[in-house]
Amino acid sequence: MSFTRRQILTGLAGLGVVGLAGSGARYWLGRPADITTHDYELIAAPLDVELVPGHVTPAWAYGGQAPGLELRGRQGDWLRVRFINNLPEPTTIHWHGIRLPLEMDGVPYVSQLPVLPGEFFDYRFQLHDAGSFWYHPHTSSAAQLGRGLVGPLIVEEREPSGFRHERTLNLKSWHVDKQGAFTKFSVPREAARGGTPGVLSTVNGTHAPTLDLPAGQVVRLRLLNLDNTLTYRLNLPDSEARIYALDGHPVAPMPLGKEYWLGPGMRIDLALKVPEAGTELSLRNGPLRLATLRSVAHDEVAGDWPPALPANPVAEPDLQRAETLRFNFEWAGTLSTDAAQGGAYTFWQINGEAWDINDKTCADRPIATLKKDGHYIFELRNLSQYQHPIHLHGMTFKVISSNRRKIDPWFTDTYLLGKNETARIALVADNPGVWMFHCHVIDHMETGLMAAIEVV
Ligand code: C2O
Ligand code: CU
Repeated sequence: MSFTRRQILTGLAGLGVVGLAGSGARYWLGRPADITTHDYELIAAPLDVELVPGHVTPAWAYGGQAPGLELRGRQGDWLRVRFINNLPEPTTIHWHGIRLPLEMDGVPYVSQLPVLPGEFFDYRFQLHDAGSFWYHPHTSSAAQLGRGLVGPLIVEEREPSGFRHERTLNLKSWHVDKQGAFTKFSVPREAARGGTPGVLSTVNGTHAPTLDLPAGQVVRLRLLNLDNTLTYRLNLPDSEARIYALDGHPVAPMPLGKEYWLGPGMRIDLALKVPEAGTELSLRNGPLRLATLRSVAHDEVAGDWPPALPANPVAEPDLQRAETLRFNFEWAGTLSTDAAQGGAYTFWQINGEAWDINDKTCADRPIATLKKDGHYIFELRNLSQYQHPIHLHGMTFKVISSNRRKIDPWFTDTYLLGKNETARIALVADNPGVWMFHCHVIDHMETGLMAAIEVV
């Protein structure tokens, strides 16, 4: 697989672009004047796409694509992205799962000021971990992610892995009607339950595509759940597939099994042994087909299972001396006092507190303060009837136990906390800052299920 260090965007790549009439400046052309300052120039701007055949959807795109341009870097290297906001409203970029300094984390009023229309911001950080990560705004999230501002960030292993072939599959279910027009990204009665689901399932922006894979080869499939709401119950019947990494971090290879639940924000790297040419496999969400994987003749000698991927340099928490902190996630079910005046709804709480998405001072009241380099166990209790993919910024944690399932510990940035489940995760607080700790069902996050954790 080849990777050019400097990939500069030149033109209207990606999805079909239709009917730009009446749309003001929509350009992606932008070559860095001084190409020593950054590796990518990434533009966010409106882009009309054709999700429903024959109809226009007024999406918002990164780098002329929705889902966004795939950014690639190599473990140990720096990633330098000049981000240009050509949207009609402020935004930021958060690099989901990447361990980086707070100033690069993309949370408005915590990491940086929002990037206003017409402005740019230079994101620069070192890539400590290899794996499948992603990026998205942290402002007006239900609408901005809903309109398509989600994209993959792939960090290649420092030394070549045993995979010669790979594909990235970006999963997203769009909130559109039969004419491709956007419907509401969040409605209160859904936000108070499982979150507001989209209806048009897509892989890389296309509904139920057919993807060609090389017969006889082992292909790395990077599956990224970039959806606002849906937990995909992934399955690939009649296939030989093994799990190599979860949420970016390597695991001892194991069979995919019957079904893997991939919550919003989560990723899974599979190795698929592609069957003989002419075979079709069905990648599914429960009983629903997401994509057809079609095997096509290929002349390389058949591939074998690659060795396990090398572990990332994440600090190992010492459970003996770790301090335990408890976090309860619960349904609050009240309207905040200003909801009637157009303020935020509050349906969810962490330890009795709800984050107010409109209050810029929330991060000044962290829910917990950790000592730098201290070892911690978080006990996560879900007191509700809905599952919550719990995500922490800035640090990677290890899942160590659950009262609902057998846990073979793994490192991650997002844990799908089941209904009424209590799980324990552990980490070393090695990154100073104020870090968001929230549910990745976007309208849960925007109706209270978010907090800040401080490391000093
Ligand atoms: Cu993908 Cu605050 O998260
Ligand atoms: Cu949630």
